[in-house]
Amino acid sequence: MAILVSGGTGYIGSHTVVELEEAGEEVVIIDNLSNSSLKTLDRIEHLTGKRPVFYQVDILDREGLHQVFEKEQITCCIHFAGLKAVGESVQKPLEYYQNNIAGTLVLLDVMRQHDVKNIIFSSSATVYGNPAMIPITEECPKGSCTNPYGWTKSMLEQILMDMQKADPSWNVIILRYFNPIGAHISGTIGENPNGIPNNLMPYITQVAVGKLKELGIFGNDYDTPDGTGVRDYIHVVDLAKGHVKAVEKIKEQPGLGLYNLGTGIGYSVLDIVKNFEEASGVKIPYVIKPRREGDIATCYSDAKKAERELGWKAEKTILDMCEDSWRWQSQNPNGYE
Ligand code: NAD
Ligand code: UFG
Repeated sequence: MAILVSGGTGYIGSHTVVELEEAGEEVVIIDNLSNSSLKTLDRIEHLTGKRPVFYQVDILDREGLHQVFEKEQITCCIHFAGLKAVGESVQKPLEYYQNNIAGTLVLLDVMRQHDVKNIIFSSSATVYGNPAMIPITEECPKGSCTNPYGWTKSMLEQILMDMQKADPSWNVIILRYFNPIGAHISGTIGENPNGIPNNLMPYITQVAVGKLKELGIFGNDYDTPDGTGVRDYIHVVDLAKGHVKAVEKIKEQPGLGLYNLGTGIGYSVLDIVKNFEEASGVKIPYVIKPRREGDIATCYSDAKKAERELGWKAEKTILDMCEDSWRWQSQNPNGYE
């Protein structure tokens, strides 16, 4: 009996595989390695003493997926596989809709044919658009996304809900992540972005390690306490543990479940810079730049539903997140290379 983890060699997937193995679950990973490295498997094995079963398969490859489901005793899928770069999705919308939406449709169809009807799906706070309420509860209506990546998450949520409604023997848990940062405390696995990072924390760590000159802060005239954007940063290991709780929940056959995974606390860009400097002892030079198109001022969760129904609560502090991001980056200045 195994959990299939699509995208399991990626950033959040690899941390989730470690937590699943530590909770005693059998894991089978599928990934096409388009945004991850095989070396992740060595690192996972080093951490847990157990090498996860791995297939290099694309979720668009129906035949390849069939073979995996025939060989392995899969009971549930945690579905991380997808493209996630916001800016790239604006340039390449067809590639994003094809990979994320068509790929998920193939995966769901193959799961159904093998009578595996339990899925945990990686969604994002981006589906709230410019949120109608702060903190954001799961009752907050979905909003208008500013990029194709966000729409793939919003549309896939709808597809999963329609599927579960039409066939209630499916169990679907949708997890809306806020802003994952940090790395495993050992510094052996972490986030490994291609090229110049788009996201705040990997940008800061690359400035700290000397690969980039200075941080550009996208706007200091937002309606927030210090004028810079406020987000709900969550440690990737807390997030990974949220998936272990979702696996426990899905065994109770919940039908449909939808949860925010965040800390419930908002930090500004300047708060992150300050905490990172404290955690690393490295000064982060920065300049104020114009606002980035599509950004909102404030986004943080109300995380009580996950606590109530999954028994999960984020535990790590912002300093933990900064320390662990720094440990990963300083021990692996070139990621998995
Ligand atoms: P990641 O890029 O590190 O991991 C995704 C993995 O999916 C990669 O290993 C990639 O090779 C694989 N993949 C992509 N397309 C595939 C395909 N067609 N077939 C097989 N494998 C494929 O990203 P991540 O940060 O770990 O994100 C995991 C999931 O969480 C994604 O669905 C992402 O959209 C979602 N998410 C991420 C964030 C974030 O800030 N990191 C926030 C909200 C939601
Ligand atoms: N920021 C900077 N400079 C940078 C990068 C970011 O000032 O170089 C600022 C942004 O303007 C924002 C904050 O830092 O105020 C966080 O930005 P990120 O790019 O790290 O994260 P976002 O909140 O924009 O988006 C992230 C993911 C999305 C996901 C969303 C919610 O990139 O995919 O969180 O989960 F949808």
